[in-house]
Amino acid sequence: MNHRNNNIHPIFDRLIQRKDREERLQQNAKVLWLTGLSGSGKSTIAQALERKLYNEGFFPQVLDGDNIRIGINNNLGFSIDDRTENIRRISEVAKLYLNSGLITINSFISPTKEIRNFAKQIIGSENFIEIFINTPLEICEKRDVKGLYKKARAGEIKGFTGIDSPYEAPENPALEVKTEDLSIEESAQKIYDYILPIIRI
Ligand code: ADX
Repeated sequence: MNHRNNNIHPIFDRLIQRKDREERLQQNAKVLWLTGLSGSGKSTIAQALERKLYNEGFFPQVLDGDNIRIGINNNLGFSIDDRTENIRRISEVAKLYLNSGLITINSFISPTKEIRNFAKQIIGSENFIEIFINTPLEICEKRDVKGLYKKARAGEIKGFTGIDSPYEAPENPALEVKTEDLSIEESAQKIYDYILPIIRI
């Protein structure tokens, strides 16, 4: 045990349990972990999926890269160590949401298998649904919604995912969404159709 934790006495057992909250909310809590390149469409799909779930009576919550990085993780950069710490904190937050009975939609590049395994370990494999938002680099770069690929190619941003920092595609995601031929709505619908039997009580 970490020596710093010696005098900490968690009270989880006496609190209202996740199961109680899931019953109240009429859903099975899960973490939907969207991984993919910058500009692959993760955030937009996450928003559409959140709206869809909410409209259908579920209680979802999005955790998104850019939002988290201006708040709780505003002291972190993009080295592998910082990305790992980014994902560790996010996973701990997602775990809190999970225990609140929510369906959490996480949209982070989470570029390596190791980083995603770390997240899965914190969240628990039974709660973790990995969804690969598969958009080829050429398309992300062509879209370049935030103008970051251009900067990365010009050397103004160092260690940009897909350019001079690795992205390892998941080998066995629960679901793969190839966004090339799909609208945002269709991508969100695809995820919704997949998770419905899992989240429905
Ligand atoms: S992760 O690698 O730690 O999972 P995260 O999803 O939180 O990344 O943040 C990615 C977002 O940060 C990108 O969509 C982009 O807007 C911005 N960003 C800034 N610098 C970089 C970089 N070097 N590599 C990737 N994304 C970057």
